[in-house]
Amino acid sequence: MEKVSALTKDEIATIDNIIKSNRENPGQLVKVLQEIQSQLRYVPLEGQKLIADRLNVPISKVYGIVSFYNFFRLFPPGKHSVTACMGTACYVRGAKDILGEIRKKYKVEPGQTTVDRRFSLEVIRCLGCCAIGPVITVDGKVYGRMKPAKVKEVLEKYN
Ligand code: FES
Repeated sequence: MEKVSALTKDEIATIDNIIKSNRENPGQLVKVLQEIQSQLRYVPLEGQKLIADRLNVPISKVYGIVSFYNFFRLFPPGKHSVTACMGTACYVRGAKDILGEIRKKYKVEPGQTTVDRRFSLEVIRCLGCCAIGPVITVDGKVYGRMKPAKVKEVLEKYN
């Protein structure tokens, strides 16, 4: 089962308002989901249950739409965005171990966010600075020649 951070009160209120304003429009499921994605920047799993109940549609239909379109994200954006390059040049220099260290230390998988919402993790195929690989970025700042032992040192700068 995927780890999900609990919805905040504000998020529940936002979802409720969007559902209320679309309740008179059956068949507006995608529109409701798009509005939630645009306001919260993700469509939480708990929110999907709420939508299914209130709009009287099966949860499987809601989940099916959210997982089909790349546009929808299932996890909240973290306070800091971490990108690990898994392109060939970085890969041959140990990018897999860097990614493994981030996953293990911060208990987060690519495409997800840590439970405390501190970090979101994405992987990318090339960041365009292969010469200094393996490379990660944090909030757009590039860290090159990474080693597993440097992961904590780098990420702990971001609170
Ligand atoms: S392959 Fe990693 S920066 Fe190009």
